[in-house]
Formats: sequence, structure tokens, C-alpha cells
Amino acid sequence: MIVYLTRKETFNAAHQLWVKQWSEEKNFEVFGKCANKNFHGHNYELYVSVKGTPDPVTGFLMDVKVLGKLIQEKVCDVLDHSNLNLDDNFLPDNILPSTENLVYYIWKELEPHIPEGVKLHCVKLCETAKIYCEYFGE
Ligand code: NI
Repeated sequence: MIVYLTRKETFNAAHQLWVKQWSEEKNFEVFGKCANKNFHGHNYELYVSVKGTPDPVTGFLMDVKVLGKLIQEKVCDVLDHSNLNLDDNFLPDNILPSTENLVYYIWKELEPHIPEGVKLHCVKLCETAKIYCEYFGE
């Protein structure tokens, strides 16, 4: 029996999506308001799911407080109230802070710390109420 357990955490961060080699017109055409020159914030909602077989005694997959603490320490404490373009967080310098890129780098940050017995299944990041990305490790 494989079940999936998800913990939700949140952080707020600023970003700008902009490709230096492109004209202003093209940047706004591709990125819309996310190209605004003076940055803007998003209230990100982060969902981290693990999968595995529940412990026969506790019925739990893992201690969900441990998962919450891990997400807080490795991701939210680093990114919260940061500027995703300018601050020295775990995004490499040349990587644009799109939601697509963020889910991949959040996965890379969390995966080595997932406790034995469970596997990281999905990192889902909501940028707005209407847009989110998911990464499954592929
Ligand atoms: Ni944006």
C-alpha cells in the first residue's frame, strides 16, 4: 500500500523575469507584468508530497512536523522576503526565477534530506491562485 502525504508551507518573495539580450518590447510580450522593472512580489504556496507505506503501528508515513521543519529550514527561511533575482539563495545566477525553475531547485534542495523509508514525490509551487508548477523528479 503506497500513500502520499503532503505538507503545505508558504513564503513571500520578489522577482523579475527579464532576458537581458531581448528588447523591452519582447520582454513584456513574453513575461507580461512579471517583467516590471522594479520587481514585484508573489505569495507563494509550496506543497511538498512524499510517498511510502504507513508504519503498521502508528499508521503514519512520516512525522509531518519533521517534513514541515525541513521545508521551513531548507526553503522558506532562505526564500521568504527575499529577492529571487538579487539575493544569494539557492538559485544559480543565470537561472530566471520562474515557477518552473523554482520547483526544480526546491526539489534539489529537499531531496537529500528526505528521511529513509519515504520518497519525495512532488514539489508543487503556486505562484498565484490560478498558476502553479509541479516537479516529480524527472
Ligand atoms: Ni511574477
